This record gives sequence, C-alpha cells and structure tokens, in this order.
Amino acid sequence: MKNIRLPNYSIYLDDQWNNLRESIKDYSKIIILMDINSRIYCLEEFLILSEIKKYETIVIPDKDGNCCSDNKTTSDTNKIPNCMEQYKNLDTCQFIFDEFIRLGADRHSLLINLGGGVVCDMGGFCAATFMRGFDFIHFPTTLLSQVDGSVGGKLGVNFKGYKNLVGVFKDPIDIFIFDKFLESLPERELRSGFAEIIKHAMTLNYNLWDQITDMDKIDIKLLLPLIEKSIVLKKQIVQTDPFEKGKRKILNFGHTIGHGIETAYLKRQLRITHGEAVAAGMIMECYLSKLYYNHTEEWMEKILNEFRKFFPKIDLSDEIYNEVLENIKLDKKNIGREPLFTLLLEVGNVEYDLKVPIGSIKDAINFYRTDY
Ligand SMILES: NC(=O)c1ccc[n+]([C@@H]2O[C@H](COP(=O)([O-])OP(=O)(O)OC[C@H]3O[C@@H](n4cnc5c(N)ncnc54)[C@H](O)[C@@H]3O)[C@@H](O)[C@H]2O)c1
Ligand SMILES: [Zn+2]
Repeated sequence: MKNIRLPNYSIYLDDQWNNLRESIKDYSKIIILMDINSRIYCLEEFLILSEIKKYETIVIPDKDGNCCSDNKTTSDTNKIPNCMEQYKNLDTCQFIFDEFIRLGADRHSLLINLGGGVVCDMGGFCAATFMRGFDFIHFPTTLLSQVDGSVGGKLGVNFKGYKNLVGVFKDPIDIFIFDKFLESLPERELRSGFAEIIKHAMTLNYNLWDQITDMDKIDIKLLLPLIEKSIVLKKQIVQTDPFEKGKRKILNFGHTIGHGIETAYLKRQLRITHGEAVAAGMIMECYLSKLYYNHTEEWMEKILNEFRKFFPKIDLSDEIYNEVLENIKLDKKNIGREPLFTLLLEVGNVEYDLKVPIGSIKDAINFYRTDY
C-alpha cells in the first residue's frame, strides 16, 4: 500500500507504527481518546505496536458508563443503547473538555483519536477549539472512518438533533490506517463504511464501481485496496476544494436525503448507521437522477440490484417520511430553504447544486418505499 500525501498531512497505510512514533515524538503530553469499543478492541494492540509508554486516556462513557457495538447485548436491536452517534453532542464535548483540564492538556499536547467517525469528528473538534486549538491525530478504527470520516478536515458534533450542525474545518497532524482493527467490527458497521466506498465509486470512478459490482459480499481480506482507492478519490476532491465551496459538494451524494433519514431516526432513538441512511439516500437520489436526466428503467434497476446485495430496506413509515421531508428543508447545505442535490449524470460523473422540486423528492421516497 502507498502512503498518501496531502499538503498539510499524510495518510499512512504502510509502515504506520514507525511513522506514528515519528509524528508524536515532540509533544509534551499524549492523550488517547476512545469510545468503549475502541477501548476494548483496539487499545491494547495499539499500545503494543506503537510502543507508546507515557500517555493519558479518555474513554467516552455511555449513559450507564459502558457501551458495546455488539447488538447481542440488547433485547431490542432497534433501540440504540450502543450507538455512538447519540453521544456526538456538546454535552460529551463538555465531558472531554473537563478531562482535558483534569489531565493538564495545553497547546503542546497531542490528542490521538482512536475510534470511529464519532470519536474522530468530536475529538478533533474538541482539540481544535480547546485553548484555541492543539494538535491531533486520527487513528480511525471503523471502515467508515478509514475511508471517509477521518479525511478532509471536517470536525464537529450534532446539535438539537441536527447532524454536524456545530463544527470547524481543521486538518489533523497525520492519519493512520490499520485494517486489522476492522476485524472486530460488527457486519452492520462494515456495511456502513462500504456505503461510503460505493459513494466514492458512483460519483468519481466508474472502474471502482465496476469492481464493486463484481462482489456479492464484503470480504474483509479484500478491503485494503478498496480503502486505498477510496481515500485517494476523497483526497483529490478535498485538496481542490477544502472548504466545500464547489467540487467537494460531489461527496454529498446520498447525504441530502440520507442525513434527513439519520436525523429522523436519531430523534426517535432508533438505531440506524450513517452508511445505512446514506445507502437509502443514494438509492433515492439515483431515482432523482433518473428523473432529472431521463435515465432508463434498466439503468435504475441495475443500480437497485447492486444495493440489494448489501443493504436491506429500511423502515420509512409515514411519520418518519414527513420528518425526513422537513429535515431536508433544514439541511445546512441548502441555500435559504431550497434543497440542493448532487445527481448522477452517469455512474462516475456527477453535477452538483441542482435544485429539485419537493414533489420529486416525495416521489423518490415513495419509490423507495414501494420498489426497493
Ligand atoms: N468528517 C467527515 O468528513 C465525515 C465523513 C463521514 C462520516 N462522518 C461521521 O462519522 C460518523 C460515523 O462514523 P462511524 O460509522 O465510524 O460510527 P461510530 O464512531 O459510531 O462507530 C460505529 C460503532 O463501531 C464501534 N467501534 C469502533 N471501532 C471498533 C472496532 N475496531 N471494533 C468494534 N467496534 C468498533 C463504535 O463504538 C460504534 O459502536 C458520523 O457521525 C458521521 O457524521 C464524518
Ligand atoms: Zn457520510
């Protein structure tokens, strides 16, 4: 695997541990931020391989002081006692800031975000704002955070139920990808990350899409080349448009409707992964692309069949349906209240900032409900 360089930082897929030691050597204090699963499944190996001897840790607690990504621990798998997304908020930031103070963090400290997208987004946000900012590293431990969440400098938390409403842009010192950490991920979390790989393929690279259509299950042993390709594609976009003024909006494909769904589920304390919501969003936005560009039924059916291999249908009852529509009108990517979409001219080629009538959005959701 090749290491990937951006102007301000590198993403290491190879020789991670030597490079990590090099990146952290000048800091007075090292703090490792985790959630309970990355604490259980990744910390020990991380400490052995990194050979870090002097460090502090912060573990984000859940309401009962513990957390587990394995749904076997709950009787109702739709409720979310174990989803980190519900802790991605200013209350948890306050807990992290308190811990920074308790541990004596200062502007010469380094935070290592060892966890999924929630740990990376929220830890990065806390490090970027505490004492007007100290350095941080992302060490993503989920597929989603490896292929997407850790790359591109977006940091933040949800507010009043709205996704990532409060946040900043700031780059990490470096990012380290260690695919062995994916071995403990539940299948559902793997699928979630796979949705973002599909997004990168559908919007940016037909060859990657072609490769995905040859697969009928996610084989962890075959993932590393896809992770690398996905990161390279995202890197090319964020380098040309770091602050999402133009081209970076391509990466919002599936997210206008997807975030609307995720927000509606979150408010009801129902479990949905980011990737599950985005996959449903991509299906509906493919339908909008079909309406916009007059794609054929066969074009649509071929795409649906690919999604069916990986993503079961999610529930969009009338109550959720109405709320999704409201959420879309409030999306932070809108100009005024007008929802804007990224749509597929063809697979691998998109246009963005497209206005779509609200009636078509309703049609797209109804299409998902009846035809997927
Ligand atoms: N900043 C960005 O550009 C960007 C891009 C995409 C997504 N995101 C954000 O990322 C978040 C989603 O990230 P995520 O899917 O990683 O969710 P997550 O952080 O909630 O992690 C998913 C689950 O996996 C568990 N986990 C983490 N590492 C594990 C491991 N190695 N083994 C077993 N379990 C493990 C976590 O505890 C959690 O239960 C969302 O909040 C989304 O908005 C940000
Ligand atoms: Zn996403």
